[in-house]
Amino acid sequence: MNRNDSKNLPPDPIRAQVAQAYGTLVERAAPALSPSALGYTPEQMLDVPRDAADHAFGCGNPLAFSEVQQGQVVVDLGCGAGIDLILAARKVGPSGRVIGVDMTPEMIVRARQNLEHAGVQNAEVREGYIESLPVEDASVDWVLSNCVISLSPDKPKVFAEIARVLRPGGRFSISDLVVSEMPPWLRDLPVLHNACIGGAIDEEAYVEGLRCAGLSEVRVVSRQAYDAEQIAALVASGEVIVPKDLPEAIVRAGVEALAGKVQSIKVVGVKAG
Ligand SMILES: C[S@@+](CC[C@H](N)C(=O)[O-])C[C@H]1O[C@@H](n2cnc3c(N)ncnc32)[C@H](O)[C@@H]1O
Repeated sequence: MNRNDSKNLPPDPIRAQVAQAYGTLVERAAPALSPSALGYTPEQMLDVPRDAADHAFGCGNPLAFSEVQQGQVVVDLGCGAGIDLILAARKVGPSGRVIGVDMTPEMIVRARQNLEHAGVQNAEVREGYIESLPVEDASVDWVLSNCVISLSPDKPKVFAEIARVLRPGGRFSISDLVVSEMPPWLRDLPVLHNACIGGAIDEEAYVEGLRCAGLSEVRVVSRQAYDAEQIAALVASGEVIVPKDLPEAIVRAGVEALAGKVQSIKVVGVKAG
């Protein structure tokens, strides 16, 4: 059995910046989009402690378009404060197991507290990188992830890790942001990167990356384009976590340039048996 040791990864400035940003952001209740805008139903939210809802930083509801069953093993890549861990733990029931992986110590503390407050006993949080998951080979029925892979500086490695940890026949269900025709002058700005936009790739590259990792039946099951107002909200959440690195007029121009080009996608697929 191989279980990657995240500590083997060399330090990376982008990961360090993102970890610092989310370590700060989790101290505030400031998600850009409300749980209902992300696709969580009022019934689902009844099960979720307020703190986990207030720190949901995703761009969708990956469990909602999965077919996770009782008794299965689920891994959530970049679990944040734990909203999807709690929902997945209820879905797999006492005979199933959920593992969250996150690199940000403050998020991990918060996720563990939220699991405890929710009375969840079949979920755990492991510290690690999604590029080197602390999870055994071929041990998982479902990989979920909600607005995290767009933050990674090494997406091919993340896609390869998904393929490694899934058992044959195991599936993935991912919500993430993609961006078409990203203006180059917007790409490397910390404020946009931390908001899951600056590091996002386009849909075709995303799907191709998953296929190149050996995953099958990869398809995008829905897309939601973000308008200028939604992008401005995401950028504002980035501004909460890093000092404003842009003059207001440039932020406005960036938001206008990205309107309609940023999409939240839901992508699914399988590791062939
Ligand atoms: C946008 S938040 C989403 C959190 C959660 N999925 C949710 O829906 O609320 C991104 C999360 O991914 C984590 N993260 C980002 N890059 C990571 C990486 N390379 N390895 C592990 N965790 C990462 C951050 O610490 C943060 O908790």
